[in-house]
Amino acid sequence: MAGNHDRRATLLEVFGGQPCLPVEHGFLHYAVELGGHRLLFLDTLDEGREEGALCPERLGWLLGELDAHPNTPTLVFLHHPPFACGIAGMDTIGLKAPQGLERVIGNSAQVRLMACGHVHRSIFTTWAGKPACICPSPAQQIHLDLSGDAGLRYTLEPGGFLLHQVTADAVVSHVVASVPFLGPYDYD
Ligand SMILES: [Fe+2]
Repeated sequence: MAGNHDRRATLLEVFGGQPCLPVEHGFLHYAVELGGHRLLFLDTLDEGREEGALCPERLGWLLGELDAHPNTPTLVFLHHPPFACGIAGMDTIGLKAPQGLERVIGNSAQVRLMACGHVHRSIFTTWAGKPACICPSPAQQIHLDLSGDAGLRYTLEPGGFLLHQVTADAVVSHVVASVPFLGPYDYD
């Protein structure tokens, strides 16, 4: 997915040959069918800006995909979280004007999870009535400061990623460390 540091032309130059990544509509959103689910990847990039955007054209693509497959369980991925996480410096550069997305997601019964990035921390919540999460960075994290006027500072807390285990009953998200650690040890 495109993040705020990316440029679409460069992403297309490197990844444009992937069958899932279309080039005809200008935005880098795409759908993947996997294990009886649909995975929808949104393009929230507003080139040259830190905050994200979903214009009517992009929202229209999402709505069209959801409307075309109302009975297929769906996971939605986007870089910029549409909800505030409490770290002020990050909340000022989240997804702008998320009301349209909130309506689309909230009205789509098939959406099981909304997964974001951007904040460089493991965060879990609900939004638009759906489970929602932010994945950690595999490298540096954003310092956890909920004081309300936090600027952006990095820390070298252990990095990681989220591993989503999807079954008919549940979507279970595991936080997996990306740095070496001791273990496992026998449980006895
Ligand atoms: Fe980002």
